[in-house]
Amino acid sequence: MIETIKAHIEEVKAFQTDTKEQLEAFRIKYLGSKGLLKDFFAEFKNVPNEQKKEFGQVINELKTSAEERVKAIQDALENKEEAKGIYGDTTRPGEAMNIGSRHPISIVKNQMIDIFSTIGFNVSEGPEIEDDWHNFTALNLPEYHPARDMQDTFFIQTNPDVLLRTHTSSVQVRYMENNKPPIRTISPGRVFRNEAVSSRSHCIFHQVEGLYIDKDVSFADLKQTLLYFTKEMFGKSKIRLRPSYFPFTEPSAEIDIYWGLKTETDYRITKGTGWLEIGGCGMVDPNVLKNCGINPDEHTGFAFGMGVERIAMLLYQIGDIRMFYENDVRFLEQFKSSI
Ligand code: PHE
Repeated sequence: MIETIKAHIEEVKAFQTDTKEQLEAFRIKYLGSKGLLKDFFAEFKNVPNEQKKEFGQVINELKTSAEERVKAIQDALENKEEAKGIYGDTTRPGEAMNIGSRHPISIVKNQMIDIFSTIGFNVSEGPEIEDDWHNFTALNLPEYHPARDMQDTFFIQTNPDVLLRTHTSSVQVRYMENNKPPIRTISPGRVFRNEAVSSRSHCIFHQVEGLYIDKDVSFADLKQTLLYFTKEMFGKSKIRLRPSYFPFTEPSAEIDIYWGLKTETDYRITKGTGWLEIGGCGMVDPNVLKNCGINPDEHTGFAFGMGVERIAMLLYQIGDIRMFYENDVRFLEQFKSSI
């Protein structure tokens, strides 16, 4: 009998449940008015005298063990209930995090970098706050040169030598000062112009400018490079090089791409012509090479600069450049599937 009770004590100590119903069944089994303890106590009178002491001890131990177990499990269940009240159901699966996406400007900029990397261009970067030399003078735009007006500049306070770069050509000047030809580099980055903000232009935008300097570089090389780029970027390479003027290149041209007029956005972006100007280009002016320590009698080069926003607008059919800077989540979320 004593052995049976000892086995019950082990069972009681090991008992575990997380439902109230099972706990109640357990309580009734041992402590109920018709429970096992009642039976064992009733047995007491039949136990031989010499065993009474030990018998008494084990049923008491069984009783306290059962009571303690019930209390402990009850407390645990109550705590869990309380936690549910405060934190909700703590076993519920977590809420999915809203995963961000790359900005369309970054997506297009990275694509452009990839395309030019394939043909050997490296990436160079420079400061957004520039000095006059790197943004203007070295680029064949001496003080009082009328073409400075083309680039409505933001100056920092009243110091005319400190300004927000108006193009990343400034990075190319820095690159030429520090590297010898052959040079093949692209300079992606943010630029600033004090222009009226409209659906087609903004005072902050992004450029990818390219520079190629070596022996015998010709305009034909420039054109081929641009054709390769437009084919890779847009899957088509109908471009137009319109004669133009930049102080740092001679001859110079604007790069237009023929996009067509399939959608209403195409009409809006191309002003109804199907053509969109995506940048400027030309053969690097000998004066610029000289200013940067390169001998124009030995080396020639071409340069180009393209607006990232323009290209992103075409590719993603975005009718208003301002959307890039408003950070409207509904707009940005649409680029989740791209890279
Ligand atoms: N820097 C010019 C601009 O920002 C673009 C350009 C770059 C033109 C290189 C010609 C050659 O408008």
